[in-house]
Amino acid sequence: MKKFNIAIDGPAGAGKSTIARLVAERLGFIYVDTGAMYRAVTWKILRTDTSLEQDDQMIRLVQHTDIQLLPGEKGQLVYVDGDDVTLNIRYPEVTSNVSRVASVAEIRKILVAKQKEMAASKGVVMDGRDIGSTVLPDAEVKVFLTASVRVRADRRFKELQAAGQADGITLERLEADIAARDKMDQERETSPLVRAEGAVLLDTTEMSIPEVVESILSLCREHA
Ligand code: C5P
Repeated sequence: MKKFNIAIDGPAGAGKSTIARLVAERLGFIYVDTGAMYRAVTWKILRTDTSLEQDDQMIRLVQHTDIQLLPGEKGQLVYVDGDDVTLNIRYPEVTSNVSRVASVAEIRKILVAKQKEMAASKGVVMDGRDIGSTVLPDAEVKVFLTASVRVRADRRFKELQAAGQADGITLERLEADIAARDKMDQERETSPLVRAEGAVLLDTTEMSIPEVVESILSLCREHA
């Protein structure tokens, strides 16, 4: 199959990463999780005690940060300035602050430029919030994945339980956190979360993972 790009956007917990990774595997394409890049800079901001109130300080830090996404056996590995932060960027503290960091236009500009570069040779499945609208508006296949907030929270809860990280976390709290993050991502001024023009809407509330993967692969076949 000829190489092309696939943009997958949608709200938190819609299953974008799992689906994007599987689609990439099936096609032999490269998977790029752009949320991991926003998480990576948020992790560094928190670790260096940079003020979340001071955009200038955060921007300067991001300008001097090296982020590498590398394929690993169990998925994408994330390095910040040479350190493996793959697990650290999933900490709740990062999750609750990432949308604030991602709302800074100048930070988005830096990361979007990097993302465009990664997709320049095509053969990329990229997931995020603004991929079809801003990062890869010319992507050959665009998908907007969503599901009800309840189902998204429930899926996250099960993932956390499976990873032994659900201590002290309730389904209600996860649901509230996801709804708050959606709101911030949808209402920010720069590149808000929207269904991009030409994006196919897939509501996965009642769909299994293989069904979603197959739907996207069939969109790809239509394109090819
Ligand atoms: O995909 P994930 O939930 O890991 O993304 C974390 C956060 O990063 C999102 O809630 C959003 O605030 C931000 N993000 C973004 N644009 C992207 C990817 C993620 O603003 N392309």
